[in-house]
Amino acid sequence: MTTPAPGSLILVTGVTALKLLEQGYKVRGTARTLSKAEYLKSGPYAKYAENFEIVEVADLELDGAFNEAVKGVDGIAHIASPFHYRVTDPYLDLINPAVNGTVSLLKAAKAYAGPQLKRVVITSSFAAIMNPLKTPGHVYDETQWNEHSVKFTEEKQKATPPNEAYRASKTLAEKALWDFVKNESPSFEVAAINPTFVFGPVIHSVKDAESINTSVFLLFKYFAGINKTIEEGPAPKGFVDVRDVADAHIKALQVEEAKGQRFLNCGGYFTWEEVIDILRKAYPENEYPAPTGEEAPLAVFDTKKSIEVLGLKYISLKDSVLATVESVKRFV
Ligand SMILES: *[C@@H]1O[C@H](CO)[C@@H](O)[C@H](O)[C@H]1NC(C)=O
Ligand SMILES: *[C@@H]1O[C@H](CO)[C@@H](O)[C@H](O)[C@H]1NC(C)=O
Ligand SMILES: *[C@@H]1O[C@H](CO)[C@@H](O)[C@H](O)[C@H]1NC(C)=O
Repeated sequence: MTTPAPGSLILVTGVTALKLLEQGYKVRGTARTLSKAEYLKSGPYAKYAENFEIVEVADLELDGAFNEAVKGVDGIAHIASPFHYRVTDPYLDLINPAVNGTVSLLKAAKAYAGPQLKRVVITSSFAAIMNPLKTPGHVYDETQWNEHSVKFTEEKQKATPPNEAYRASKTLAEKALWDFVKNESPSFEVAAINPTFVFGPVIHSVKDAESINTSVFLLFKYFAGINKTIEEGPAPKGFVDVRDVADAHIKALQVEEAKGQRFLNCGGYFTWEEVIDILRKAYPENEYPAPTGEEAPLAVFDTKKSIEVLGLKYISLKDSVLATVESVKRFV
């Protein structure tokens, strides 16, 4: 099977549509409410109005939610995924929505898209690969699965801390993808993208700093002088710029050899001290927490596959941090 060529129609859930439009694709975006997507008719999207449509998918988790949206598309990039840490029950709040969202999209794609659908790319996460118990220096690659967080959540149930519950949800959602492929043998091919911590410019319209994504908000709080402490924390520190995440999805739609593969998507290493150092040099007038000298536990991220198969050229930490701040500094 070939891959979707420019000119063909791609369904994009969550909006990373601009690059596809620039490359000549037609895009169908989804939004929870149409009014929230109004801003997409102006700005950089305006000149692609003819190639761009938005359909409403109110509840991504409901069976049948995507039945209409998938009709007639040649490719799907499924990017929307709940990312929040307000968890009282890990299954009800995170795991079921993540798994059901993935499965309902795949079911709809198989039953309603049509035989022209060639490829579906789904955003998974580094959380589905990492194992929080691994020691510093561990080398992560696509052969690994985070079984730890799944077992931990099964044991602790409602006492599971939100970060473990989140990691379990990402692991189980991606497993649901590969199980679907194995059990349902759909006629389309699939790929998964596993990004680490995402920095990078916020391209969707946001009303205040708190509605921006968690990782961007952490960075914003240092820039705005709201966070006065540095905690390197135990998690392995890999970052990727949101534009490289978008690129990874597009390449995984286009590159023949990406079929049936998952890709660790990581632009490099970071510590909060390095991030603050970049901010301090660029915006010396702001106040920042003093260096603590705390060592960040480093892991090794083997991103060969994303570079060799998808041809990604990763944006550096400095460029990513500065572009992030530029996009949100109006909220200070
Ligand atoms: C999601 O999945 C769970 C477990 O399979 C199920 O009990 C629940 O009803 C589903 N929720 C929705 C909204 O479909
Ligand atoms: C933030 O999340 C939205 C979806 O909620 C996504 O479309 C966007 O790419 C994300 N941006 C960053 C910088 O992670
Ligand atoms: C400050 O940033 C650290 C990361 O260095 C984070 O763990 C912590 O939650 C942040 N605190 C606040 C108040 O945002």
